[in-house]
Amino acid sequence: MSTMNLTLHVWRQKNAADPGRFVTYRAEGISEHMSFLEMLDVVNEGLIDKGEEPIAFDHDCREGICGTCGMVINGTPHGPRKATTTCQLHMRTFKDGDEITIEPWRAAAFPVVRDLVVDRSAFDRIIAAGGFVGVSTGSAPDGNTIPIAKDAAERAMDAAACIGCGACVAACPNASAMLFTAAKVSHLGLLPQGQAERDRRALAMVAQMDAEQFGSCTNHAECEAACPKSISIETIARMNRDYIAASMVKRPKTAGSGGAG
Ligand code: SF4
Ligand code: FES
Repeated sequence: MSTMNLTLHVWRQKNAADPGRFVTYRAEGISEHMSFLEMLDVVNEGLIDKGEEPIAFDHDCREGICGTCGMVINGTPHGPRKATTTCQLHMRTFKDGDEITIEPWRAAAFPVVRDLVVDRSAFDRIIAAGGFVGVSTGSAPDGNTIPIAKDAAERAMDAAACIGCGACVAACPNASAMLFTAAKVSHLGLLPQGQAERDRRALAMVAQMDAEQFGSCTNHAECEAACPKSISIETIARMNRDYIAASMVKRPKTAGSGGAG
């Protein structure tokens, strides 16, 4: 088993009011089979042994499911491997002697809580603005009880793969949340069960996105490139169509200044 020694430049910040700074650490004897988070665990064990504060970072499932483990690695959200969350990034991606810069998501709507941990509750409020599906779906139905076109089912599933990690916001030069919001609007809007609230949902979620001070989309497509779940920017075009169509009918009471796009 080959091991490596690395130099890490890690963003340390006590709280949102602290200006923060990079601190350099050595990561020694790191196995190529470790995940990136396991490598940070090793560094933190060393810091704790020396009586120093461990590096704060978010994580839960460590299986690419929960979306909490976001950090910018060498300038790229979730690091250099395409369609891979930080927790699923293995150290064999790096080589002995590498220097690695590790930062939190940088976006006004995601204030730093501590070190690499940011507050992503703005995403929760966008989802909450979408509300519930009003149609009674009953208990778990038999397969094919409600006919859904294959294309719609596949597109809805693709959109539902969004884990709410925030990499799209971190990658976007405008800190736009369009890819996330579009994924959440689409995964219900494409299904028959989501039609009753389709207009209201698109208007309310876009209004909340604007209220949270995320930037606008200017088609850089950095979000798609950074997304660990490969959500397509076609999803944004679909949300824009839904938003425009819904706007023809009614305006949301909570409408913010911007709108989709
Ligand atoms: S769209 Fe992709 S990058 Fe954005 S929150 Fe969802 S999974 Fe993360
Ligand atoms: S820790 Fe859950 S997606 Fe990385």
